[in-house]
Amino acid sequence: MRIATLTSGGDCPGLNAVIRGIVRTAATHGHTVVGFEDGWEGLLEDRRVQLYDDEHIDRILLRGGTILGTGRLHPRDFMAGIDRVKDNLRDAEIDALIPIGGEGTLKGARFLHDNGVPVVGVPKTIDNDVNGTDYTFGFDTAVAVATDAIDRLHTTAESHDRVMIVEVMGRHAGWIALHAGMAGGAHDILIPEFPFDIDDVEKRMARRFQMGEKYGIIVLAEGALPKKGSFHTKDREVDEFGHEKFQDICGELRKELENRLDIDVRSTVLGHIQRGGTPTAFDRVLATRFAVNATQAAMNGDFGKVVALKGENIELIDFESAVGELKVVPESRYCTATSLFG
Ligand code: F6P
Repeated sequence: MRIATLTSGGDCPGLNAVIRGIVRTAATHGHTVVGFEDGWEGLLEDRRVQLYDDEHIDRILLRGGTILGTGRLHPRDFMAGIDRVKDNLRDAEIDALIPIGGEGTLKGARFLHDNGVPVVGVPKTIDNDVNGTDYTFGFDTAVAVATDAIDRLHTTAESHDRVMIVEVMGRHAGWIALHAGMAGGAHDILIPEFPFDIDDVEKRMARRFQMGEKYGIIVLAEGALPKKGSFHTKDREVDEFGHEKFQDICGELRKELENRLDIDVRSTVLGHIQRGGTPTAFDRVLATRFAVNATQAAMNGDFGKVVALKGENIELIDFESAVGELKVVPESRYCTATSLFG
């Protein structure tokens, strides 16, 4: 059997662990694996590389990024190219395709499945917002990076009697902010799911200083927004993929708080640092388990499925459960964090 794989969308620590897991599992059963470069684009343009079960593949477990490269292709271009995709898969004698990606990639995978391509999806994203799986790999690494940054901000904030705002990734889901904020002992956490009231943020910080504390830490997800009428922020533009372009909510919040408080306020945007570098042990293990289970599903002819973590187990779920809607932070989880604010 010949299995193909590709990585698509934003990169994520653990992608190489999945590629390694697929190649080694397939090899154990006498099957071969090819990788398409740069996501869907490589599949459309038939840019493929043979992946051998050798020392090189074995060692990529530790490496961040993706040896196959990744990319974002507009769904319109992808759908228009379906015949080319099928021709390329036929020419390469591919029996199963394992795309690794977030919500957008899994929607593409479902489209291929609906068009007769044998597909098993592997979910990835540092944002942890893919539905149907308890965790996606990459998230634990991003949280570890953000927590380390928050830990460091505590000491400099305290030395200078400052409020520090740290912006983490998360357009629509505040999982990274929630977990890193809780782990880092943040005094406020602002996430897209629950628009914030600037008066409350101001009061919480002011109260800390009135009570004799010397600093405050606010963790802000990039997609967090103030409640309507709370304070003016720039209108958000939308890019060609329909994603909102983020326009410095961190800087806007900093200015607003500095105007309101007689305290120094500084901001730090972590950005892509959260996506780079070596994956944590948790992410390597989850990525490897996803890979082994996805390859086994492909070998069993169990197509049209996505691997998912459910409690302790890896299960196969259907595409609908994975791509219907994003997994956002529920109110009960946010309330656990808010009870420690201030
Ligand atoms: O989807 C993961 C993610 O890291 C988001 O949290 C972030 O908004 C986005 O990717 C940034 O992507 P890029 O800058 O690579 O287009």
